Amino acid sequence: MSRRILVTSALPYANGHIHIGHLVEYLQTDIWVRFQKLRGNDCRYLCADDTHGTAIMIRAQQEGRSETELIAEMQAAHEKDFADFDIKFDNFGSTHSEENRVLCGEIWQAIRQSGLVKEKDVEQLFDPEAGTFLADRFVRGTCPKCGAKDQPGDNCSSCGHAYSPAELIEPKSTLSGATPEVRSAKHLFIELEQLHSFLNTWTQCGEHLQPEIANYLKGHFLGDPLRDWDISRPAPYFGFEIPDSPGNYWYVWFDAPIGYMASTKQWCNQSGESFNDWWKSADTEIHHFIGKDITYFHTLFWPGMLKTAGFSLPTKVHIHGFLTVDGEKMSKSKGTFVNARTYLKHLDASYLRYFYASKLTAKVDDLDLSIDEFVAKVNTDLIGKVVNLASRTAKFVSEVGLSKKYPDDGGLFKYAAAQGDEIAEAYEACDFNRAMRLIMALADRANPFVEDHKPWTLHKDARKAKQLQEVCTVALNLFRQLAIYLAPVLPRLAEQTGELLGDPITDWQQAKTPLVGTPVARFKHMMKRVDEKDVHNMIEESKEASQTESTSSPATEHAYQDSGDALAAEPLAAECSFDDFMKVDLRVARVISAEQVPEARKLLKLRLSLGGGAVKQVFAGIKAAYEPEELEGRLVVCVANLAPRQMKFGVSEGMVVASGPGGTEVFVLSPDEGAVPGQRVH
Ligand code: 2FM
Ligand code: ZN
Repeated sequence: MSRRILVTSALPYANGHIHIGHLVEYLQTDIWVRFQKLRGNDCRYLCADDTHGTAIMIRAQQEGRSETELIAEMQAAHEKDFADFDIKFDNFGSTHSEENRVLCGEIWQAIRQSGLVKEKDVEQLFDPEAGTFLADRFVRGTCPKCGAKDQPGDNCSSCGHAYSPAELIEPKSTLSGATPEVRSAKHLFIELEQLHSFLNTWTQCGEHLQPEIANYLKGHFLGDPLRDWDISRPAPYFGFEIPDSPGNYWYVWFDAPIGYMASTKQWCNQSGESFNDWWKSADTEIHHFIGKDITYFHTLFWPGMLKTAGFSLPTKVHIHGFLTVDGEKMSKSKGTFVNARTYLKHLDASYLRYFYASKLTAKVDDLDLSIDEFVAKVNTDLIGKVVNLASRTAKFVSEVGLSKKYPDDGGLFKYAAAQGDEIAEAYEACDFNRAMRLIMALADRANPFVEDHKPWTLHKDARKAKQLQEVCTVALNLFRQLAIYLAPVLPRLAEQTGELLGDPITDWQQAKTPLVGTPVARFKHMMKRVDEKDVHNMIEESKEASQTESTSSPATEHAYQDSGDALAAEPLAAECSFDDFMKVDLRVARVISAEQVPEARKLLKLRLSLGGGAVKQVFAGIKAAYEPEELEGRLVVCVANLAPRQMKFGVSEGMVVASGPGGTEVFVLSPDEGAVPGQRVH
């Protein structure tokens, strides 16, 4: 029976362009949706631009235009980028829409009526010239502790002292240069704790979340009372004014997920569907695809809001990791922070679709785009194993078409048809890596058939015309099976295959029956090999773009709205003096080797060079978060004067500085480019 499935990806912020990091998620979702559609399910992919918040407001001000003009321009750019990557939404809306305003109002009312809202006063710095409240990083001034000038609003980069922005001497707003004032304003909070027991059950029942995510929530949030969620911002704020609290606006993270619904509503209005069938029916599955950084919002706040307002809860929240390029964070200066548009100028979208598919699993792990692997995989698999099946055979049968009867192929077609279920299971489970491996294994069985029967030789002998037609009939049918199985990942190839064989690919079950006696069109070129030069040019162009970017480019939404969870989980330590701090000798070091310690659960053994032959051995508890190869060669910060400690596996002569709660969530700190081993950090 056909399933009704609503699918979303996280709404992209309207204050930046789509880059290859974002594309991991949109491609993952698009592949899953296309797979569901090919299986005959009533699956819809909804998304929208996430438009509200301080970042957009300030950027519009700086650019001297209205927010609506700015978000319209960004939305057009996003939609074009997505379309050119073959990411196909059923509707792409905007959180700044009337549908969204109305739905926010409805949900808000339900939350109010449930007695979950309370008011509290919050003190914040206010820029009287820009007329806006300021997040800490938009205030700079002199450190109250050491007197260093031009320090940011949260802590001093010279002496490390942490303070509130109001403590800075001669504070200045970075927006206008004005002296900010402390102002107190009323904020509205949702008492999430009232939903604790519901959220505990919903997150821990094993159905909606990946196991590592359920454990993370249990370990980090659900063990303690849930903190109140500040969901309002005082004017001025670009967003929706709260109807029963004039002068206050819903915080962007309140109206953003409601954007999923608003986009559905728009689509329903256009297509004559009923909204309640999609958001209030037990027969509809709801699947959200998101990145791990926004887990909290989608697994606690969002189900809490839906539950309170009487809407369906997500069937599943699929959470993916971040993209690294050649084992490192995307970097503007290295040219690996590649915008979607820049990629498209140099490379074919299908390459990235296939490469990401081959890497994506159902786990939350980060995904690495190694440039060499990218080139090799696309050329070996897509060109060498798949497209070649058609390009080496189709031209020989474009006049005669396929044989009337399917020839004996030694069971190849039947085997590949039977593999369809297993491949489908892998797609369904979001284990695209497995699906691609299964498909390539079929390609590995098909290619020897062509090599053994050498159609290019048969073609030279007119007496072998029938045999040639049979060999090509087999090869093209095996090729078509691959194109069907790959259709969710490579829609263009599926379309080209449909044109070549006169039979559009629209259904997964087409892989079960071979085509016989049908015409074959003239073979048109399908996909070219990746040229390393093009990859190189793309990286160079991204590097140049980062150099010309204005240094005063507006900060991202994240910068304004960093969550307070990390700080709350580990409050600041008791104050220490500058001298105390200086006792700790932090040094830049290079990881010269990193090895597993097989007997240890958490440790990696690192050898750190401080330059000039000085080497330290350190056991670091980062095994769950890093592969040794990712660390070798990179610069880290090490506590170099820590007393050596005898551990079970050897002596540890220092520590590597890292943040994060532990487990897979550990982030080793690196100095900026230019630092050299041995330099002191202070
Ligand atoms: O993190 C982000 O990029 C947000 N714009 C995602 C919003 S997803 C949803 F909740 F709307
Ligand atoms: Zn200081």
